[in-house]
Formats: sequence, structure tokens, C-alpha cells
Amino acid sequence: MQRSYMFAGAFVVLFVGIIVIVVVCVSSMNGWKEHNADGPKFWEQGGVYQVYPRSFGDSDGDGTGDLMGVVAHSDHLKDLGVVTVWLSPIFKSPMKDFGYDISNYMAIDPIFGTMDDFERLVASLHRNGLKVVLDFVPNHSSNLHEWFTKSEAREGNYTDYYVWAEAKDYDKNNTPIPPNNWMSEFGGSAWEWSGIRGQFYYHQFLAEQPDLNYRNEHVKEEMKNVLRFWLDKGVDGFRVDAVKYLVEAQDLNLDEPTDSDNPELLHHIFTTNQPETFQILREWRELVDKYHEKVLMVEVYSEVEDVMKYYGNQSVPLAHFPFNFFMLEALNNRSTLNGYALKDTISLWLDYMPEGKWPNWVLGNHDNGRVASRLGKDMVDALNMVVLLLPGTPVTYNGEEIGMENTFISWEDTRDPEGCRWGPDHYQEHSRDPERTPMQWNDGHMAGFTNGNNTWLPINANYQEINVAAQKNATHSHLKFYQHVTEIRQEETFKKGKVTFPTYDDSTFSFIRSLEGHPSYLAVVNVATVNRTVNLHLGANFQLPDKAEMVIHSSTSVAKETPSGSTVFLDSLTLVAGEGVLLKLPED
Ligand code: FRU
Ligand code: MG
Ligand code: CA
Repeated sequence: MQRSYMFAGAFVVLFVGIIVIVVVCVSSMNGWKEHNADGPKFWEQGGVYQVYPRSFGDSDGDGTGDLMGVVAHSDHLKDLGVVTVWLSPIFKSPMKDFGYDISNYMAIDPIFGTMDDFERLVASLHRNGLKVVLDFVPNHSSNLHEWFTKSEAREGNYTDYYVWAEAKDYDKNNTPIPPNNWMSEFGGSAWEWSGIRGQFYYHQFLAEQPDLNYRNEHVKEEMKNVLRFWLDKGVDGFRVDAVKYLVEAQDLNLDEPTDSDNPELLHHIFTTNQPETFQILREWRELVDKYHEKVLMVEVYSEVEDVMKYYGNQSVPLAHFPFNFFMLEALNNRSTLNGYALKDTISLWLDYMPEGKWPNWVLGNHDNGRVASRLGKDMVDALNMVVLLLPGTPVTYNGEEIGMENTFISWEDTRDPEGCRWGPDHYQEHSRDPERTPMQWNDGHMAGFTNGNNTWLPINANYQEINVAAQKNATHSHLKFYQHVTEIRQEETFKKGKVTFPTYDDSTFSFIRSLEGHPSYLAVVNVATVNRTVNLHLGANFQLPDKAEMVIHSSTSVAKETPSGSTVFLDSLTLVAGEGVLLKLPED
């Protein structure tokens, strides 16, 4: 008896001991590394590249990009060295919000082509070793979706497919008053009156984008069927649009509190990040996990604590990652860009991220201005280098690899509903058209985007200088730099190594990637707008070697003649404005 107790006791001590050792080892390696027994998942192996299909390549000359236009440029995607291609919405849509208003989730919009074209596209990308991720827009459909028409007519099960509410009251002109003060993301009340139904419906975005009702079981099932439909067609996962808005508070009479400093501003406590949203995401994750290696990346602009909830935890995983928009937000223009800001923004994600999860870094997308215009042309390479070489998945918006710039769009040419609703005097502060103009492929007819003579948005006049073909032929270019860095990223150090931050201040940013038994690399960025000679030893958080070996530098560098392999001194590293360099540290 006694002995067996002692034996059991010793066993428990041993067992607890082993657990402690395992936990300590794992956490002292990389908090950010998801340790998959079966090796890294595809999204951990390289970048995500966002294709905005209207603007990538036009195969039929109508001036709007399409699926066969993407096929035509699949070499470019392959040569970039990215792993995953995310396509912004390609589904049947009245295009009020350019595809983010879907009228049939299981059909391709004719402007983009046919289902056969889609299958060709998937086959072509897969043949090139690339993965395909679709944009899943679950929060809202188009008001022209048959679900909405039927819901408006109170047809059977469809009656509650959307978020309907009675008028709170009627004013003296007998105009119905919305049930609460909730606002649309695009401005104005989020409630639209339906004369047909005699009720309001809720829309977080345009009135043409009614929110689906996720408290309805049929809706939940319909959307799961959408996911299964595309997974069965062989797609590799989804980018989930506007997920924080999925569910609203059940009580539609609740007003959101106004901000004490700015009464125009609401605290979105009833319309964002609701607990039920995470339950739905959990069901979607379970669904995609029934397939082999599928990714869920979700779009959430929120406070960091809220964003992190979308990762879930070890026992209940949700998204593989919520997009990290903090770089976009913190580095909004050059005056906000300094070494501390970069370091803090990167640490913010790494520090808040739940244990064992996988980071990601977003520099641009279809909703935010171009990097070159926000932060400076000279910063393009350095920032691409930073996101490509940090631990985690870099996300690149099409055109950023060649440093495309915002395009001036006249009021007459403005297409984005967010711009249009602000009118001729203010559209430029809100329009997303400047970052959505056609991809610049070459210096020929219509920048190689289309054979036609018109494009849905004008082509940037700078296409003769800034285009893919020119950058392919140049010895030094943004494109060459991007490709080179994605190659370097394949080294073990970047796949598994830890990250540390030796020196950063107002004008300098740097990080080291290191892995036992492999070379260590030091990335340095001069974030200043002037050329400088930097002493990295000054104020360094730990000791750095005296010299290192040049691996690669920005295409704007004066050090163009400093070939890779040449020696540089860390106490006097000369960098032009915005320059980034990658150095290999000596093995001690
Ligand atoms: C990001 C976005 C926008 C679109 C909206 C609604 O918030 O992708 O581009 O207008 O979601 O789907
Ligand atoms: Mg076309
Ligand atoms: Ca919603």
C-alpha cells in the first residue's frame, strides 16, 4: 500500500517535472511559433499577396480586370516568391462597393469571367505552387441578393435573414425614426427604411449592403454552405471581411454611448466584437479544419486586446490570424515614422499575441493609401524588407512590390462609394480609388493592363517609370529587391529564428534574427529623410560585433556599388534616406 503510494507520488513528481521542463523549453524558444508536429503550414512558409481583381489584369479589353487577367500574370505571382494569393471578391455583385456587396455567393460575376475561368485560375496557381484564398464577406450581402428580396417580402424562412426593426417612433411629418443611434461605417444612420416591409433594416456599410442576421440558424447554415462550396472547389482558405461586425446586440433599442470628447463619435459596444461573433468564428474554424490545411485570416480593425481575441487560444483556436493593421495605423505618414514607433508597433503585436500563435504584418491594402505615398518612395524597400523578414506572414497588396503610388483621381472619375458620398470638396480625404488603380505592367498601351482604350479607374501617369517590366530589367529595383528578400527569407534563421531589437531611436530601426547553429542577420533601416552615417553601437541594448557582411540594400542606396559580401562597420554605416540594409553577422 505505502509503497504503491510512494511510487504513485514519485510518478506524479516526475510527470509534473516533465511538464514544467516542456513548458519552459517551449516558451523560451519562440512565443510566436506555432509548433506543428507536421512542419510549417503553407501560410507560415511565405507571404500572402492580395490581388484586387478589378485592377490586376484585363483579358477581354473591357477596362476592368478579370480572372483570366490574373491567369495571364501568374508568372509574376510565382516569381515574387509569395506563397498565397488572396483574391478580393469575385462573386456576383451589383458592384455598389466593388464586390463587397454580393448577390450570389456561389457564382462568379460576369465582369470577372465564368466558373470555368475560376477553375482555370485555381489550377494555374496551384500548378505554380501557389495557394488560393478567397474573400469571404459574411457580414452583409447585396440588397439585390434574393435572400434580401424574400426577407423584405417576409417569405417563410427568409423573414429573419436580416436585422429588421420597428421604427422607434414617427416624427411630425410621419417619417419613421430609427430604433437606435447606430451609425454606418460609411457615415449616417446604419438603419434604412423599407417601405415594402414597413420596417428598418440594419446596414453597417452601404444601404445596399444589408447585414445578415447571425442569430438565425438558416443564415448560419447558408454561410457554412458557402464555405463548403468553395473548399470543395479546392480553394486553400478565406480572408474573412469585416468580421468584428458580424453580430449585433440582441436588444435593438440600445443606443451606443457617445464619446465624452467628441459627441459625434460612438463607442461601438453593441455593434462590434460581440461574444456571439466568436462562437460563429469557432464553427467556421471547425468547418475548415475538416479539410486539409486551410487558412482563415480575418479582417479586424480594433484595439489590440480585441483583435487578439480573434486568434482564440490553445484549446479553442479561431482565426489562424487576424490581420495586423497596427503598422498601417501607426505608420500613417512619414512624420509618424521613427525607430521607436516601428519597434513599439512590432512589439505590440508580439507582446499581446496569445502563446503559440502566428504573427503577420500588413503594409497596405485596398482600403489604405500606397506605402510610397504615405511614407515616401525611399521607404518602400526598407519596409518590405521589415515585413518580409520578421517572424510571421507578410501581407503585400498588389503593386506594393513595385512601389506604386496613389493616383490622383478627379471628382468626375471617382468611383468609390466612400469617396462619392463626401462630395467634390471632401472626396479626396475618404476615397479609396487612389490605391485601387490598374497594375502597371509595362510602359506600353494602357500600362499593359488592358488592350482596350478605357479603364475603370485611370492609370497613374507615372506608369512609364514605375512598372513591372522596367523593374524586371533593371539591376536595382523595388521588384528585384522584393524578390531577393523573399529568397533570403527561405533560410532557416528567418523561418524559425528569434527576433531581437538591438538599436532604435528617432531615426534608426534595427532587428536581428538568430537561430542556434545558423547565421544571424541584422536588418537596419534609416527612417530619417536625410542620408546618415549610423553608429549602431550607440545606445545598443546588447553588444554588437564591430563589422558585418552586406547581404542586400535598398534599390535607392548609394551603396549600390557595395556588393553583397563586402564588409561594413557597425559604428559607421552609411545609409541614404529611407534605406534598409540586411547584414550577415560574423559567426563568433
Ligand atoms: C474593409 C472592407 C472594405 C469594404 C468593407 C465592406 O473594411 O473590405 O473594402 O468596403 O470591408 O465589405
Ligand atoms: Mg475585363
Ligand atoms: Ca452584422
